[in-house]
Amino acid sequence: MYRSILQRNGRSAFSVLNEYCGRRISAALGGNVEARRTIIDHSYSAHFMDFKGSSISSSMKKLVVTKLSQNFRSAVCLQTVPVPTPGDEDLLVKNRFVGINASDINYSAGRYDPSVRPPFGAGFEGIGEVVGLGLSASARFTVGDKVAYFSDGAFAEYTVIPSKKAVPVPAAQPEYLSLLLSGATAHIALRRLGDLTEGETVLVTAAAGGTGQFAVQFAKMAGCHVVGTCSSDEKAGFLKTIGCDRPINYKSEDLAATLRKEYPRGIDVVYESVGGSVFDLSVNALANKGRLIVIGFISGYQSASGLQPITGGTLPTKLLRKSASVRGFFLPHFLSDYGESLTDMMKLFAKGKLVCEVDRGDLDPEGRFVGLESVFRAVDHMYAGKNLGKVVVEVAPVVDSKL
Ligand SMILES: NC(=O)c1ccc[n+]([C@@H]2O[C@H](COP(=O)([O-])OP(=O)(O)OC[C@H]3O[C@@H](n4cnc5c(N)ncnc54)[C@H](OP(=O)(O)O)[C@@H]3O)[C@@H](O)[C@H]2O)c1
Repeated sequence: MYRSILQRNGRSAFSVLNEYCGRRISAALGGNVEARRTIIDHSYSAHFMDFKGSSISSSMKKLVVTKLSQNFRSAVCLQTVPVPTPGDEDLLVKNRFVGINASDINYSAGRYDPSVRPPFGAGFEGIGEVVGLGLSASARFTVGDKVAYFSDGAFAEYTVIPSKKAVPVPAAQPEYLSLLLSGATAHIALRRLGDLTEGETVLVTAAAGGTGQFAVQFAKMAGCHVVGTCSSDEKAGFLKTIGCDRPINYKSEDLAATLRKEYPRGIDVVYESVGGSVFDLSVNALANKGRLIVIGFISGYQSASGLQPITGGTLPTKLLRKSASVRGFFLPHFLSDYGESLTDMMKLFAKGKLVCEVDRGDLDPEGRFVGLESVFRAVDHMYAGKNLGKVVVEVAPVVDSKL
């Protein structure tokens, strides 16, 4: 029995601070830093579990990788497991939404860390409500706080996360979730590796997707001319609305020929997510001193090797002749930029200057992605190239409108 008595001060979620983001996110969102609740008695337990208030069940559903494969449906099983207990510095989060990422299938294939063996939890990011926490974590969080996080094993009804990984958010809305990984990737990659100068031309591939939409907007904010690739006229229309100067639907226009004809001087910066032949034509399209940032190579992820072939043999010549460069970007290597980046993006979003388009599956033939079972459909939706914006799955619809 838990005898700890919690006295809450009606503190706003804005005031919760975290290690990643420091105080700036709170200030950016206009929240006040108020007095913390007082822990009156914690002598009988190291954990504060709000079982009564939050109706935490003893078991939950979770997506578990049981066999390594890039085929998400054969790698991953929906299991019923006990709800985990947070450790001293942890939060127990009841997930409201989880985010789908292209690399969910790289992860299920064991490509991130070849030493990891199944079973392990799938999913990288979620947003929801704190329903339990450890004693040390209670210094900065309390039950009822809304948090987003970027951590392994997110595809579950409840997830335990280290409190230092939790990002306080005003509400458990999927738009905030889109910033954590997709937005941060575009923001940091362009800032650190793009060296953008006003008036330059930037090409974004998979521009209408989770991270592409942000790259388009950040390049535009830097005063660049932005070209974006996509696979439908609907996506091209969306790209126009977020400032893309020249959307190219590569299904109806020849991408290489269009770039040669309309951008004879070349492209200064490419934010490249597709790989294979799109990587090749992007290298060919680079201007003198051009920079190609390798964000990903989704066209290869469903293959056994994870890669599509490129014409690498001639790459040194092509780069030397143009004094061009190819630069790789992997978000976990840039966590020192993360807090500042999230703060900037949250400010922009709060001021209505950043569009965070989310795709909840409304146009999927089987309907909106609701419940962990629909993660499989959501991954298929992305790999069919049908998503517009960040793909999210609603894990637990709730009646409470504050969520
Ligand atoms: N480096 C990092 O730290 C980092 C972090 C986040 C994401 N990423 C990378 O960013 C890229 C986009 O990821 P995301 O999660 O944001 O996905 P997303 O862009 O929301 O969705 C993927 C999009 O890629 C295109 N696509 C899907 N399958 C394809 C295929 N087989 N061949 C060619 N294009 C295909 C489709 O758009 P269109 O066909 O309309 O273009 C689809 O909508 C991926 O390469 C991912 O690995 C990297």
